[in-house]
Amino acid sequence: MLGPRIEGERGIALITPTLDHLKRNVEWMTRPETTRFWGVRAMDLRPEHAEKRFGENATDPTLVNWTIAFEGEQVGMTGLFHIDWITRDAESGIFIGRHDLYGKGIASEAIRLRTRFAWDELRLRRIHNWIAMRNRGSRRANEKAGYRQMGRFPRSWYRSGQWHDEWLGEILNPDWV
Ligand SMILES: CC(C)(COP(=O)(O)OP(=O)(O)OC[C@H]1O[C@@H](n2cnc3c(N)ncnc32)[C@H](O)[C@@H]1OP(=O)(O)O)[C@@H](O)C(=O)NCCC(=O)NCCS
Repeated sequence: MLGPRIEGERGIALITPTLDHLKRNVEWMTRPETTRFWGVRAMDLRPEHAEKRFGENATDPTLVNWTIAFEGEQVGMTGLFHIDWITRDAESGIFIGRHDLYGKGIASEAIRLRTRFAWDELRLRRIHNWIAMRNRGSRRANEKAGYRQMGRFPRSWYRSGQWHDEWLGEILNPDWV
């Protein structure tokens, strides 16, 4: 599913993705500054694959996908994936492609907006994620939105000559009965 527009603070908003947004994200994903904390990922990043992927994102009932906008411009994307509608659990992810804008609070605000939507509109019970321990920016942005460590996965993946531990985080809906 493609998420609806949600206005946040300080010029940050989640907006409905377009095919052009996806193509731009894919371009950003080919740069080392944006993917150095990712495990080995085999993805089809060819532009001709983007249309198929956009269609799948739009129709998949187990995900909600947003473009992140800052001062009216696309800067990245975020989403809830693998939504299990029975246990009401989902995995979350975030990607800011504009690395010149890191550290300005964009991810923290995007995660706050996404989490509120998960509770207020989707009525989810829990969201979890996996973050490389070395990816302090991602861990902090999630912690600021209320995520807490539920575990740690030592030597989860190997890249560029070293093992990486992962931080397993979760947030629970405080209103869940
Ligand atoms: C990780 C990422 C989402 C952070 O986005 P951001 O908009 O820079 O995050 P924020 O500005 O909201 O910062 C959140 C916190 O992390 C800190 N931070 C951000 N980047 C950091 C870095 N490179 N090193 C150390 N701390 C960092 C900020 O200072 C802030 O902490 P504070 O409020 O305690 O000072 C962004 O760098 C990104 O998309 N990277 C590439 C893709 C990726 O790694 N995605 C996450 C996969 S799990």
